[in-house]
Amino acid sequence: MWTQKRVVVAVTGGIAAYKTCSLVSKLRQEGAEVKVAMTKNATSFISPECFEALARTKVYVDLWGSAEEIPHISLGQECDLVVVAPATANILAKMAHGIADDLVSTMLLAATAPVVVVPSMNAVMWEHPAVQANLKILADRGVRVVNPDVGNLACGTSGRGRFPELDRIMAEMAKAVTVQSYQGKRVLVTAGPTREYLDPVRFLSNPSTGKMGLAIAKAAWQRGAEVTLILGPCETKVPDYINHVPVVSAEEMLEAVLSHLANTDLLFMTAAVADYRPKCEAAEKIKKTQSDLSTLELTRNPDILLQVKAVRRPEQIIVGFAAETAADLVELAKKKLTAKGLDYIVANRVHKTDKGFSSSVQSEVVILGKDGSYRHYQEINKEELAHSLCDLIATANQL
Ligand code: PMT
Repeated sequence: MWTQKRVVVAVTGGIAAYKTCSLVSKLRQEGAEVKVAMTKNATSFISPECFEALARTKVYVDLWGSAEEIPHISLGQECDLVVVAPATANILAKMAHGIADDLVSTMLLAATAPVVVVPSMNAVMWEHPAVQANLKILADRGVRVVNPDVGNLACGTSGRGRFPELDRIMAEMAKAVTVQSYQGKRVLVTAGPTREYLDPVRFLSNPSTGKMGLAIAKAAWQRGAEVTLILGPCETKVPDYINHVPVVSAEEMLEAVLSHLANTDLLFMTAAVADYRPKCEAAEKIKKTQSDLSTLELTRNPDILLQVKAVRRPEQIIVGFAAETAADLVELAKKKLTAKGLDYIVANRVHKTDKGFSSSVQSEVVILGKDGSYRHYQEINKEELAHSLCDLIATANQL
């Protein structure tokens, strides 16, 4: 995402300035070229040398530089994104009212790149009508505001004002530089395994982690969609900008999918749904005996995609996934594409160990569309696959 992107990080004078080090470091690790500008007040919290070491380039503090370089103009015009983190009430007021009295405020007035602000301050300041009015002016002008978190604040109080988690800042920044091709679309994603209980403490399941589904949920959100993720039991943490519907069994997943389907434009079924469940769930833990447990009776679970096929509207886009261990990946995918009435299918090879489930890489992937779309990847990172799939669908369907 960030490889070769040019990002200007503007640091203003709040205690959270030290947290901006992690942001600069993360952006560098992800391949961005980072330049840092600081207000004089920010240098009271953290030294420019710290950011110089992290960004591996000169840090800009003074409005007055050499004749060859005019940073207050060039910084915000020769980059892909400007992020102000932390953004104090003071810089928000200056931005809203066009005040340009130092390098950072002047650079922001001259910026032509998209701007993201990450306010962080005392909760009473945050709630002040003047701050809220300034934020509204900025949001109306297209500045992306990353609202602060609720929690303990450096001033000893608690409330809304905490510098947000790095992942959310990175996600909002990514959204600011992404074409909003899914704007106005409602995307439903299923992910993770289902659990089919034999008794109160034992169940049939599979190793799905929900990573693939979460990657799609994030990629669609980044493109402007409103996203709901129906997630089976797994460790995956769902960010708060994605609506999260937890489920356990295939039957619960079916009910959740059908209840959301009418308000869905695109459905991505990445979940590894159990095809069978125990015929009866014992009310008490099954006791062991001396002999083998010779029979475990199973019954078919409903096929969620087949039920979707029966009630879907033709303009809805339905994407299935297929986890395969057999050799003929493409043939198996074609059969499921037709049988389940899908618009697209993503077939991936899964193994007992490493790649496929759980890992961040899919080992062999084929995307097939009923419109004739075809893509093949020998190996692809799940996030890249999610972006590639979302873009393919957006282009093919003129979203
Ligand atoms: O979660 P991760 O660890 O990141 O792993 C990702 C993944 C390997 C689980 C994912 O990429 C994947 O392949 N998901 C589909 C797994 C699967 O159940 O495949 P299938 O061939 O059994 O099912 C085909 C399609 O029918 C799937 O979209 C599935 O969600 C759906 N299905 C399956 C069974 C059922 N009862 N109802 C369904 O709707």
